[in-house]
Amino acid sequence: PTGTEDDYFMAVIAADQKIEPRDWMPEKYRKNLIRQIAQHAHSEIIGMQPEGNWISRAPTLKRKAILLAKVQDEAGHGLYLYAAAETLGVDRAELSDMLIDGRQKYSSIFNYPTLTWADVGAIGWLVDGAAIVNQVPLCRASYGPYARAMIRVCKEESFHQRQGYEILHVLSHGTPEQKAMAQDAVDRWWYPSLAMFGPPEGESPNTAQSMAWKVKRFTNDELRQRFVDMCVGQAEILDLTLPDPGLVWNEAEGRHDYTQPDYDELFRVIKGNGPCNRERITHRKAAHEGGQWVRDAAEAYAKKKAKVSA
Ligand code: ACO
Repeated sequence: PTGTEDDYFMAVIAADQKIEPRDWMPEKYRKNLIRQIAQHAHSEIIGMQPEGNWISRAPTLKRKAILLAKVQDEAGHGLYLYAAAETLGVDRAELSDMLIDGRQKYSSIFNYPTLTWADVGAIGWLVDGAAIVNQVPLCRASYGPYARAMIRVCKEESFHQRQGYEILHVLSHGTPEQKAMAQDAVDRWWYPSLAMFGPPEGESPNTAQSMAWKVKRFTNDELRQRFVDMCVGQAEILDLTLPDPGLVWNEAEGRHDYTQPDYDELFRVIKGNGPCNRERITHRKAAHEGGQWVRDAAEAYAKKKAKVSA
């Protein structure tokens, strides 16, 4: 880069303006964005599986229609994000290959099983709730296509969070068995949801640079704290207990103290050794291979059209 290019790039960031695909950008900025946006896109696509597991068993037609819409939204989020990544010069097919062969990551949270219908509620409330806390600041990320994709994603995530909350509210005000099922789901999803925010300060190698470039606006710990503070009041209204005896209001600090998730478990899951990692990737690979004929047909059709118009 010339001094001028780099100065201009940093001036755009300092002024809180957006970097657009045609602007000059440092190679490390481009690579870091591809890494984060691709991981984010993969998470949306893999995230369809745990809930998709309940589409055929949703308790009513209305619940089924809502869940179908939600899972389709996740596919849409994946597509906007792949499109945003493509503006940085990578190909979506290449990103899909990197997901399938394990060269790129996806969120740890989707490697946990959905054992009961209440898990669909807990995912909506906690997992989508955590996603909103993480993603609202990304609407102000310095890279224009990513920030703009996040605006629509966050609106849809709000609906997802509400639908999960409502499922849990109905269950927790239902029969004792339903309430116990809701509590069990919250007990299992709480710590994995906290871990979703990523490793703590000191073990998060990307944070400092990402914040300097204004891709990330807050540290993983700051967002995790915000999420805990948000959930406490909501759990009270749900009449469910967050499974942490160490969760108490800290008057002096103006926030809750809480027990950290097990970060060794997070690293194990990220490395591929969570309860459902293999199942998720096997399923994705089969779906990808099963869709090959659609991609072939689309390509053949595009070629035919190009020939006709030439
Ligand atoms: N699951 C899987 N991998 C993770 C997780 C997690 N929960 N948290 C951190 N990691 C990985 C990072 O990708 C990074 O690995 P890499 O350098 O090989 O890419 C490593 O652990 C160290 O973490 P950080 O240095 O903290 O990484 P980063 O600054 O990227 O922060 C975070 C991680 C917060 C997830 C960030 O990438 C982000 O905000 N991403 C966008 C949101 C997102 O991906 N959400 C997905 C789930 S939400 C949903 O889809 C509904």
